[in-house]
Amino acid sequence: MKVLLAGATGAIGVPLLSALAGAGHEVTAVIRDPAKRRLVAEHGADPVIADVLDRDALLRAVDGRSADVVMHQATALRNAPRTLRPDDPTLALRGRGTEHLLAAARLVGARRFVTQSLITGYGYRDHGDTVLTEDDTFGSRVGNIGDLVTDAGMATESQVFAADGIEGIALRYGMFYGKNAFSDMFADMMRKRAPILPRGKTATTSFVHVNDAAAATVAAMERGRAGEAYNIVDDQPVSWRAFLTEVSRAHGTPRPVVTPRWLLRLAVPYLGCLMIDTTMRISHAKATRELGWTPAYGTLREGLEARERP
Ligand SMILES: NC(=O)c1ccc[n+]([C@@H]2O[C@H](COP(=O)([O-])OP(=O)(O)OC[C@H]3O[C@@H](n4cnc5c(N)ncnc54)[C@H](OP(=O)(O)O)[C@@H]3O)[C@@H](O)[C@H]2O)c1
Repeated sequence: MKVLLAGATGAIGVPLLSALAGAGHEVTAVIRDPAKRRLVAEHGADPVIADVLDRDALLRAVDGRSADVVMHQATALRNAPRTLRPDDPTLALRGRGTEHLLAAARLVGARRFVTQSLITGYGYRDHGDTVLTEDDTFGSRVGNIGDLVTDAGMATESQVFAADGIEGIALRYGMFYGKNAFSDMFADMMRKRAPILPRGKTATTSFVHVNDAAAATVAAMERGRAGEAYNIVDDQPVSWRAFLTEVSRAHGTPRPVVTPRWLLRLAVPYLGCLMIDTTMRISHAKATRELGWTPAYGTLREGLEARERP
């Protein structure tokens, strides 16, 4: 298939480039920074330069090209501000960015659209021991800062599902770990001895290795059903305490520094909401059944151990 990919230089974007090339797909990568042309070219993709939030520039950049599928993997999390505001660029990318990429899909003749969504759209609260599936309510607001992210997840999903003449598919990814993802980010913080582990009980959530997320994305592009969302997570949810402990061990960093819960909430309100309030155990049974995908790394420990091997 011919794929137009936005977000090709990100945490999932790079392994996705490899996975797409490995499966014989032809990729045009929409990138913002001309200096990253080489990175995507090395993975066999053809770069075009545009900011997804600039509709006219995006349409000009892709005009004259053709594609079967558009993939939206653009987020702006690398330099995320300490607190989340309604004008946050990642939220805009999920809302306005999706709208612009749908316009690009029409221009290049793509009939399929795969978008990045996230498991936290099930609601930033304690879901207890319930194992959540795609049949559970998605997009419900619970009255905390996470609602902004939930709304943004809904904004991208609802647009791709409603778009005329487009086969929309949404991938509700778990927390990414692996190269350039949460594990690297938290390992850096632990190296700097940043106080990041909330005292007492932490929330439990589902993670997924970025390479597994990339493989699932290719499977969804090839075999996913139009109008469907798929949870993409590994087999075993873990608490944030266990996550930080495992990452610290695998990356050889100092142990996570404990911080009072109120202080974490004050200093980094969104992370506080995620690490303290948002317990969710997610099933990938639908992705396994319909896409034939299972994670190569069933557990966080297996995925982190793979990193340690030469
Ligand atoms: N589900 C999850 O847990 C999840 C999901 C995503 C990210 N993260 C976390 O966020 C951190 C950073 O991830 P990342 O490196 O993927 O970060 P990122 O900085 O959010 O970048 C994602 C991709 O989107 C592109 N992009 C951003 N804004 C754009 C725009 N306006 N127009 C076109 N492209 C745009 C970036 O391009 P540039 O190279 O030009 O910046 C990059 O290719 C990691 O710690 C990761 O774990 C978590």
